[in-house]
Amino acid sequence: MGRIYNFSAGPAVLPEEVLKEAADEMLDYKGTGMSVMEMSHRSKAFESIIGEAEQDLRDLMNIPDNYKVLFLQGGASQQFAMIPMNLMKNKVADYIITGQWAKKAFQEAKIYGTAKAIASSEDKTFSYIPDCSDLDIDEDADYVYICENNTIYGTKFKTLPNTKGKPLVADVSSCFLSEPVDVTKYGLIYGGVQKNVGPAGVVIAIIREDLITEDTLPGTPTMLKYKIHDDNKSLYNTPPAYGIYICGKVFKWLKKNGGLEAMKELNEKKAKILYDYLDQSSMFKGTVRKEDRSLMNVPFVTGNDELDAKFVKEAKAAGFENLKGHRSVGGMRASIYNAMPIEGVEKLVEFMKKFEADNK
Ligand SMILES: Cc1ncc(COP(=O)(O)O)c(C=O)c1O
Repeated sequence: MGRIYNFSAGPAVLPEEVLKEAADEMLDYKGTGMSVMEMSHRSKAFESIIGEAEQDLRDLMNIPDNYKVLFLQGGASQQFAMIPMNLMKNKVADYIITGQWAKKAFQEAKIYGTAKAIASSEDKTFSYIPDCSDLDIDEDADYVYICENNTIYGTKFKTLPNTKGKPLVADVSSCFLSEPVDVTKYGLIYGGVQKNVGPAGVVIAIIREDLITEDTLPGTPTMLKYKIHDDNKSLYNTPPAYGIYICGKVFKWLKKNGGLEAMKELNEKKAKILYDYLDQSSMFKGTVRKEDRSLMNVPFVTGNDELDAKFVKEAKAAGFENLKGHRSVGGMRASIYNAMPIEGVEKLVEFMKKFEADNK
């Protein structure tokens, strides 16, 4: 069997070219006679892998020198704790609740201090992004937290919140490298890489250097201090070396394909194909307020659970995998990350049209 179109929300599709290159280098990485998996993380070969990965990411995102790039572990979920442990100097933080991941981060932060929910879209099943232009930001807030792209609900912040001078912390797990970003608008940007960047097991955190201090909450484990990872250039302990190597290859693939401007253009084009169809279909409907629609995760429903299930089943048989919506919302969701080719989306829409005609 060949490759299918994988619409999974994560772990998700990676560029075929990257996978092939990694396959070619599997047994003998650049004349070292071993795989990157078998290599010391203190070796010259790995030092250049991680060094190049960082530089390529800096180039792609135009990361200023006063921001540190850390390659960490523990999934995005570990950041839910690591952020308050490292940043809650006043023990106060404001959270904007736009879905389950933001909510989980909020609940975790409550363990460590006063976390406040200053806005939420839960009243309408997180189908929109609340107005964040004039929120009641606590004077003592150490940071304002958002989940920038809501993987489950398919919403995305098109305008960042007005944090009234407080550092903005953003979980970008599901929109990482999908379009250009102005890093200077954030105190901390982080994401698990298993959606748009690489294999599960790596978390990238981009942190303004003044936010990295010795002054963490009492009891913070050494491994959960940003400072220790920064001081050791992400090599305090054995890093997820193979994962970082694949991320590095994806960065090179992105650079070769025109960087984040080109990705944005392509992602807009891909998303438009799907949203345009949803907007005129009499069977399938998008679930998100139009102006808040994500370019990466596109949820839709027929309004009939049986028909949804039939669609998912038939789509799978036709080579479109992982279209089932998140277990908490049902329906369907097509995740169309950077590595999903435009043909994948075109063919999905063709399939949906046929399904609509056949099931009238
Ligand atoms: C936006 C977002 N944040 C956090 C997570 C949790 O990531 P992890 O499984 O790496 O902890 C996910 C996972 O799907 C996600 O989509």
